[in-house]
Parts: sequence; C-alpha cells; structure tokens
Amino acid sequence: MENGMNTVTLRVNRFAPRPERARDRERGGSPFARKSSPFGDSGASARRRLRGKQWVQDYTLRVRPEDTVLDCLLKIKRTVDPTLAFRYSCGHGMCGSDAVSINGTPTLLCTASVRDWAKQPNTVLVDDEGFRHTGDADASLADDAVSVSSGDLGVIELAPLPGFPVQRDLVADIDQMLDQIRKLKPYLQANNELATTKDGKINAFEYLQNPQQLAKYELLANCIACGTCEGSCPVYAGGEAFIGPAALITASRFINDSRDGQANARMDAIDSADGIAACQSVRACTRECPRGIDVGEEIWQLIAQVKER
Ligand code: SF4
Ligand code: FES
Repeated sequence: MENGMNTVTLRVNRFAPRPERARDRERGGSPFARKSSPFGDSGASARRRLRGKQWVQDYTLRVRPEDTVLDCLLKIKRTVDPTLAFRYSCGHGMCGSDAVSINGTPTLLCTASVRDWAKQPNTVLVDDEGFRHTGDADASLADDAVSVSSGDLGVIELAPLPGFPVQRDLVADIDQMLDQIRKLKPYLQANNELATTKDGKINAFEYLQNPQQLAKYELLANCIACGTCEGSCPVYAGGEAFIGPAALITASRFINDSRDGQANARMDAIDSADGIAACQSVRACTRECPRGIDVGEEIWQLIAQVKER
C-alpha cells in the first residue's frame, strides 16, 4: 500500500431523469435547460418531481484519510466515471453549493473528511453468551469478531440533500429555498432613502454601526444558504407548508440590523401559518449548520421578537 494511502468505498445514490418528451418540453422544457438563477424567475410551476432511473453505485478508490469527500468525488469524476453528477464551487465551505446527505446527515461535501465519515458496514455479531448484536465493525465488540482488512477505511453513503427534489445523482433542486429567501427581500432597505452628502455622493458615515449593533446580526450574516438546516428539518420537506429555517435566518439578519428600516414589514411577512407558526422547535436545524449558527435558538428568539412587538 502506497504510503499514507487507504481505500474507501463511496456508495452513491444515483438518479438519471427520464429523457423529456415533446409534451413535457411544451409544458416548461427540460429542467436542465431552464434558467434557475437565484436572481431570475424560477416559478413553482416549472418545478416538478422528475421521473427516472434510480440505483446505488459503489466506487472504491485509494485515498488519504484527510481527503474530503469532495476530493473523492472529483477523483471519480475525472478518472473513473464522468457521468457522476454533483455540485460544488468554492471547495472550502464558503459558497454552500455542495450540501448533500452523507451517511444520512445533511452536510457539505467539501468540509467532510474521509476520516470522519467512513464507517465499517453494519455487521451482525454474536457475543460469548449467544446474543446477536448489530453494530459497526469498529465497535469494541467487533474487535475479535470481525476482521477489517488493513487500510480499508470503510464505506461513505451519499444521497442528495433531503427535503428537495432531485435533479440528477447528488444534485438537488434548491430553487424552492432560494424563492422563499427572495420573497423576504434579502437586502438592506433603509426607508427608501439614501443619505447623501452636500455634493450628492452617498454618505457612508450615515450607516456606521457600533460593535453592539453589529453583534446583533453578524453571525446571521454568515449564512451561505446551503440548505443543510432545511434538509435536517422534519417540517420543511418541500417548502410548501413552511418557509424554512434558512429564510427565517435571512429575515432575522435584516430585522436585527440597525440600518434597515423595514423590521415591521419583515416581521409581518413571516408572521403567518407557513412562517414562524409552522416551526415546531424540533431544532434539528441547529446541529447541521456549517457556519456555526444556532438556527433553532435564533428562530426561537425571532418568534419572541415577532410576538412581543
Ligand atoms: S442557517 Fe446555516 S445551515 Fe441554514 S442555510 Fe444558513 S448556513 Fe446553511
Ligand atoms: S464547495 Fe463551496 S461550500 Fe463546499
């Protein structure tokens, strides 16, 4: 075995949409051809659950334990199977485009290391007293019962982000989340007035904040709209009945910004049956945020703000 190299198996849930028929084309065209920019109009009518072929495919490759799961997928794409589809951009946890389900947990491909996520497959073990146990092969009971071949780090299971329609393989359609965020006007609204100096230039000093004002929303401004909180939320699934945690974090970011003059209108927008009223405070959203936002707690505080105004 090459120095420091091990093997890992990526078990990928794959999906290939059925080729579109002429009638589908008339209804809205291929989902791959249509524009789905967060700044364009991506109507819900254009979004539909695709039909196609589903299967699970294993890829075994040589890796270093510190490699990321994204590194592994790129290696597969470049050297083994160019048909495998996944999305990424920055490669270091800043853009939020590569959220998927790893071993059932929504997370980012580029920050997940093989060392942390590879696991030995579940194995049925029989202990000295004849009791059967199901567990990981690397658990203490397994030490004698299972031989793990040296250098085999195990299996990593990959699937598209839960709660969203799948487009192809690991690519989920996140337009519904971006639509919900866009509805809440995710930009500063300074009472429609722009402070200017006597000579007509923008007066930047009008918008200065003190550290306390900044601290109220600074962490919330780190949200990268990756959707892992939505993928973890048992209420969200589809975004029809619940606006979703990512949109509520966006609302809170601007409601708590002293430079924004639309706090009341923003609170009105989320004070609805599919807004804060739909949140069941499960707080699964908190565990998975890659930007360290305590999403459940922030939503809880937002609900209190809306109720107390
Ligand atoms: S709150 Fe966290 S998990 Fe949710 S979209 Fe923003 S960065 Fe992602
Ligand atoms: S590729 Fe940008 S966050 Fe992972």
